[in-house]
Amino acid sequence: MKALILAGGAGTRLRPITHTSAKQLVPVANKPILFYGIEAMAAAGITEIGIIVGDTRVEVMAAVGDGAQFGVHVTYIPQDQPLGLAHCVLIAHPFLGDDDFVMYLGDNLLEQDLSAFVSAFEEARGASSPPTAQILLKKVPDPHRFGIATLDAQGNVVHLVEKPADPPSDLALVGVYLFDKTIHTAVASIEPSPRGELEITDAIQWLIDQGYRVRCELLTGWWIDTGKLTPLLEANRLLLEKIALRIDGTVDDASIIDGRVIIEAGAVVTNSTIRGPVAIAAGARITDSFIGPFTAIGVDCEVTNSEVEHSVIMTRSTITDIPRLEDSLIGKEAVVARTQRRPRALRLMVGDHCQIDLE
Ligand code: G1P
Repeated sequence: MKALILAGGAGTRLRPITHTSAKQLVPVANKPILFYGIEAMAAAGITEIGIIVGDTRVEVMAAVGDGAQFGVHVTYIPQDQPLGLAHCVLIAHPFLGDDDFVMYLGDNLLEQDLSAFVSAFEEARGASSPPTAQILLKKVPDPHRFGIATLDAQGNVVHLVEKPADPPSDLALVGVYLFDKTIHTAVASIEPSPRGELEITDAIQWLIDQGYRVRCELLTGWWIDTGKLTPLLEANRLLLEKIALRIDGTVDDASIIDGRVIIEAGAVVTNSTIRGPVAIAAGARITDSFIGPFTAIGVDCEVTNSEVEHSVIMTRSTITDIPRLEDSLIGKEAVVARTQRRPRALRLMVGDHCQIDLE
């Protein structure tokens, strides 16, 4: 079993951050989103991983390297244009060969680990009338935004449709799929969709139309497609919910640490209150400030005389004299500072290297 992780998307819905950074490397709970997917593969025992990369390939390759840090071996597969998920399978064929594989969308985050999903497929493959594909479904409140499945009374997948205007059900395709080699014939047989992409949803429908069996499982636990600000902050919140207290950095006597907080080695907290769940990365300096629940402060950030809550602050940014910053995503090396009093709380999405001076 191999894995194919898709990390080529441009991330237009996370601009301005994604003008300068890969969306798959935006951190949640201080870890790049993409790393969770790679770790999930490693935990499921899959060590041969192909990663589809696009315009942000240099950054993705620098962060992931050869995969040794995750105990896996990574092969990069460049995609010159975002021509769809099924197009990714098409160009990955030389890497995948005839092996079964998991396809994983690099901006999806799942609570559930993948081992059970993978072994269910392997088990079903050994039985009579083996499936050629397995999909993961989850009920969603906004089905027009996803690939949607219709099941028959026995729970078999009978129809799939991509982002329907009039959804036939509320069962969305989660961005984790299992395939055998038949998918290569499917992706070569379909036509681009109205949005000009080769849709994996159409390729799976092709399998159904040809009489192949597509197995499905319902996802328990949460699932987030992190492509936009609100779900990204939600993923940050859900992952921080799971942390345990660990203080490896320096906290002075005037500071209060309340609840589940991670303070990495080299971080310094001075005269501040940290109310968990909060993660503070190595080298960060928190001075005369309040860091509220569900906040992740990145490596070498400085927060001074400010209040920050329910936010992601990326590497080497500084927040100075801000009475309240909430529900915000601040890019790398950004400066948010205030020179005069402002009464209201701020909600910001600030790109890398930006400078915001409030006067
Ligand atoms: C893609 C798939 C869609 C699936 C979704 C899951 O959508 O096309 O079927 O439900 O991922 O995240 P996209 O992210 O391309 O809008």
